[in-house]
Amino acid sequence: MDERQRQTPYLDALCAYASRNPARLHVPGHKGGQGADPGLLEAIGERALSMDIPALTYGIDVGSDPTPFEQAQRLAADAWGARRAWFLINGASQGNLAAGLALAQRGGDVVVQRNAHSSTIDSLVLSGLRPTFAAPEVDPELGIAHCLTAETLQEALERTPAAVGAWVISPTYFGAVADIRALAVVAHARGVPLIVDEAWGAHMAFHEALPEHALAAGADLVISSTHKIVGSLTQSAMLHLGHGAGEMIGEDTVDRAVTLTESTSPNALLAASLDAARRQAVVHGSELLGHTMTVLAETRAQIRAIDGLDVLDDRLVGRAGVFAYDPLRLAVDVRGVAASGYELAPLLREIGDINLELYGQNVLVAVFGMGERGLGEASRLVEALRTAVERVGLEPEGTLASFAAPPPWGELAMTPREAYLGAQEVVPAEQAAGRIAAESLATYPPGIPNVLPGERLSAETIAYVQRTLELGGSVRGASDRQLHTVRVVLEDGEEPGSGR
Ligand SMILES: Cc1ncc(COP(=O)(O)O)c(C=O)c1O
Repeated sequence: MDERQRQTPYLDALCAYASRNPARLHVPGHKGGQGADPGLLEAIGERALSMDIPALTYGIDVGSDPTPFEQAQRLAADAWGARRAWFLINGASQGNLAAGLALAQRGGDVVVQRNAHSSTIDSLVLSGLRPTFAAPEVDPELGIAHCLTAETLQEALERTPAAVGAWVISPTYFGAVADIRALAVVAHARGVPLIVDEAWGAHMAFHEALPEHALAAGADLVISSTHKIVGSLTQSAMLHLGHGAGEMIGEDTVDRAVTLTESTSPNALLAASLDAARRQAVVHGSELLGHTMTVLAETRAQIRAIDGLDVLDDRLVGRAGVFAYDPLRLAVDVRGVAASGYELAPLLREIGDINLELYGQNVLVAVFGMGERGLGEASRLVEALRTAVERVGLEPEGTLASFAAPPPWGELAMTPREAYLGAQEVVPAEQAAGRIAAESLATYPPGIPNVLPGERLSAETIAYVQRTLELGGSVRGASDRQLHTVRVVLEDGEEPGSGR
């Protein structure tokens, strides 16, 4: 390990500023706490407020080069093996926005994994890129989406000769990891960069028993939600440019896109937390992750011992779209009990104040942090699950919830940007077939958008979304979550309310 990784230049500079009682003739107006509401002061403390300072503060991010801010970003780049790293103060969402804007400077088409995060779809709206969607593999038993295979990417790129990039997600919410090496080979063979939304995998660089992380496997631009598992403050994240990106994505291009998507007042506490989380990950990550993995392996065994429950683990590896498995998520398969994940999640809250990251029809997902030492919450989860299963009972033999595959998504009649910005109206769902959607509809399970802005709606898709809602599923992206109405585009010559 490079000894410099033990340092936290940005955090130290911030602490030094806060400690020396400077004349704060700058924003924010709370002036290090003295002007803050007493309730806020008591809640978060004077120390935190004294470190809440603006950008362009001498000795922190301006002054002699490299500034502490630049040093901190360089250390982060080295830690993850990037050519350059950017601290993001608007989450991995900002990373996706910036990635799309960077790609759009190379052309207008892009291949995107269909179950991309909503911020990727927002990025298509902002950038105007025309997507070719590539379908992830759907687990026929669990009804959840896994990763994209190299074959699917290859086929999508062949259909998109003008593509300027390939944009995939790995790991998934549920822990499936893609074969990034194979995806990178396919993308590079066509001369396009591989963008990996690794929001859920920032920790994977710090333990050899974990799946290889995307930069190490040849990705060119990696979006990393450092706050999720590595443990920086919520809303802080990083964007990493790979050493091999070469001319495919220029450093300056990414830099401009990050600036465009960022506040001119980035929160210093968020940046400091990234600096500190990087140190913790490099210096202690291996030991901490090793411990967390041991405790989670025991926890998985305890959960599997409860009648009716199973867990997702590396037994998934080898299924379509699962190249490796990231054990830092604890995904519980609840198909064997007489209640869906939607019913169990509130029950667990009631029983043990258990607050999950995610739940769907068949699977509950608990997230564990890289640096947790006690992991007392693991046994709390096991206890609450045991009580919940006793209360709801088991699913009778042979009636495991079956998963109906969604109908194919509709033709892309205009780009997401054109649909989002174009004239629109809201129509009853039964009149929406044949119209172009101005919003997304993504049913859970399995979380693959059924409709995205710019796509033509079919009666089949609307019926499928409504049926999922009736079965207790949910729909994201829709302005009307019950789907009585849908927001659609007014095409040339269409009058609002014409109903077509
Ligand atoms: C795959 C993926 N990408 C991006 C994001 C956005 O991350 P953030 O909340 O840090 O903006 C998420 C958030 O859950 C995600 O799951």
